[in-house]
Amino acid sequence: MKNELVLVLDFGGQYNQLIARRVREASVYCEVRPYNTSIEDIKKLDPKGIIFTGGPASVLDDGAPFCDMKTFELGIPILGICYGMQLMAVALSGGVSRAAQREYGKVNIKFDVGFSSDEMCIDPISGALGGTYLDTGWSLVGADLCVEPLTSGAPGGVLFGGLEPESTAWMSHTFHVDKLPEGFTAIASTESCPNAAMENPEKLFYAVQFHPEVVHTPQGTQILQNFLYRICGCVGDWQISSFVDDSIKALKEKIGDKKVLCALSGGVDSSVAAMMIHKAVGKQLTCIFVDHGLLRKDEGDQVEEVFKKQFDLNLIRVNCEDIFLEKLAGVSDPETKRKIIGEEFIRVFEREAKKIGTVDFLVQGTIYPDVIESGAGDAAVIKSHHNVGGLPDYVDFKEIIEPLRNLFKDEVRRAGVELGIPENLVMRQPFPGPGLAIRIIGDITKQKLEILQEADFIFRDEIAKHGLTHTMNQYFAVLTNMRSVGVMGDERTYDFTMALRAVETSDFMTATWCRIPYDVLEIVSNRIVNEVGHINRIVYDITSKPPSTIEWE
Ligand code: XMP
Repeated sequence: MKNELVLVLDFGGQYNQLIARRVREASVYCEVRPYNTSIEDIKKLDPKGIIFTGGPASVLDDGAPFCDMKTFELGIPILGICYGMQLMAVALSGGVSRAAQREYGKVNIKFDVGFSSDEMCIDPISGALGGTYLDTGWSLVGADLCVEPLTSGAPGGVLFGGLEPESTAWMSHTFHVDKLPEGFTAIASTESCPNAAMENPEKLFYAVQFHPEVVHTPQGTQILQNFLYRICGCVGDWQISSFVDDSIKALKEKIGDKKVLCALSGGVDSSVAAMMIHKAVGKQLTCIFVDHGLLRKDEGDQVEEVFKKQFDLNLIRVNCEDIFLEKLAGVSDPETKRKIIGEEFIRVFEREAKKIGTVDFLVQGTIYPDVIESGAGDAAVIKSHHNVGGLPDYVDFKEIIEPLRNLFKDEVRRAGVELGIPENLVMRQPFPGPGLAIRIIGDITKQKLEILQEADFIFRDEIAKHGLTHTMNQYFAVLTNMRSVGVMGDERTYDFTMALRAVETSDFMTATWCRIPYDVLEIVSNRIVNEVGHINRIVYDITSKPPSTIEWE
C-alpha cells in the first residue's frame, strides 16, 4: 500500500533534514527533493502537501533558487519556511526587502490563533487534538476534516490553531516580507517583523518566517502537525512496522532465488540492512564480517553471537587483526591510518568475496541523509559508504541493493528493534570505521590496543551502571601518547595518560562535553588505574566541538 506523502522542496537551508525528520516523527512519510524538481515529477509523487525549506540565498538575487511557478496552481497546500516564505511572497507578487534589523536567535512572537487551547478537546476516535471555530462552524475535531486533502478553502487561523498566543520562535533572517501578496493576511508578528507568518487559506498557502522545525520554537511541532493534519488532511500512516513488513515483501520479490552479499561491520546500518534481507531471503544472503581487531572489547564476538548463533545468519567472520596491526605498525599519522584501514578492508573483503563467486546483489547500508546529500533522491548518484569506500569496484556483482535508503538514522534504529535485533546493538553509539586505531594517538601496538579496550569498557560499564547512557550521544576512552610520572605503592611509575571523552550532540557537527558527575568520574578513574595496567593518570576532555573534534584523531 502506498503511503501518503508530503514533499519537502530543498532550497539549501541548514535545517532541511530536520524538517523532514519532524514530518516523519508526526507519522507522515515525506521526501526531500531539490527545489527545481519538475512539475511533472511533483505530480507523479502526488503529495498531500508541499513544504518549501529555508535557504542561504536572497530571493532578490539574480538566479535565486525558484520552484516551478505551476506548483502554485496544483491546489495542494503549501507551507513556506523562512526563505520559503519569501519565495512565496515574491512568486505571488508580494514584496521582500532587507529588514532594518537582522533577526537571529530566539525571539518573542505573537500568533494569531484560530482557537484557544481552552477550546481544545480530544477526538475520541483518533486521539487528536481539535477545536471548533465559532465564526465558521468548521469543526476541527479529530480527523473528520482530514480524510481527504483539501483542494481549496479553509478557515483562517488553522495553522496556529490551539497554540498559546504568545510564545517564542527561532529566527534567522536578513530579509523579510514587507508587502503581503494579494489574498494573504499576516498571522504572526515579532517586534521587528510585522509579517512573521502569513496565510491565504482560500488557496491553502501558508508561510512562516521562523523555523518551526527546531526545538527553540517550542510550539513548532504543533504548527507542523496543524499543517499536516488540519490543512493537508494527512492521516498519519507512516509506521516503521509496516515499512519493515512491506520492505521484506518487496525484497523477497526483487531478489527471488538470487544471491546477495553484504559487508557486515556490526554497526547499526549494516546490521539492520543485513537483518532485513536475511528475513526476506534467508541463506541466499552471505555476510562478510571483516574483523580488523580494532573494535571495542568483545564486540567481534558479540556480532558473531547475535547474527550467527541467535539469528542463524549466513555469516563469515574473517579474523585479521594481525594483518591490520602489521600494516599499521609504526604509523602515527591519523589520515594514513584511515587510508591503510580502508584499503586493507577492501582487500580482505575482495578476497573473501572471490571465494563466493559472482553474486547478483551487493548490499549497501546507505541511509536517507546520504541520499539527500548526494542529490536528493537521484537514484543515479550512489555515495560510496564511507566505511567501505569504493567497494563496488572490487566485487563481482550485478546490482546494488539499499534497503535503508529512505530511512533516517532514528528510523533505522526503530526498524532494527522491529526486526528483533537486541537493543544494545541497535541503540549503540556511533563508532568510527577505523575503530580504535584513531583513539590510540601515535603508533598502534597490540598492547596499546588491549589497554584501550579495557579502559574503554570500564568507562562504558560505569556510564551504564549509573544510568547516564541516554544523557550522552558518544563517549569513549582515548589512549594518549603521553607518559607521565606517578606513584603506585612505593614505586615510581612512568606510564600512559588515558583521556575520557563524552559529548552531547544532535548532528555530530557541533558538540558540547557532558557534565558527568564527579563521583562517577572518580569511580571510573579508580577502576581504570587499578584494573588496567600501564595507566597512571586519567584526564577528562572538557572541550566542545568546535574548536575540538569529537575524536582525538
Ligand atoms: P569528529 O571527530 O570529526 O567526529 O568530530 C564526528 C563523528 O564522526 C565520527 N568519525 C568517523 N566515522 N570514519 C567513520 O566512520 C572515520 O574516519 C571517522 N572519524 C570520525 C566520530 O566518531 C563522530 O561520531
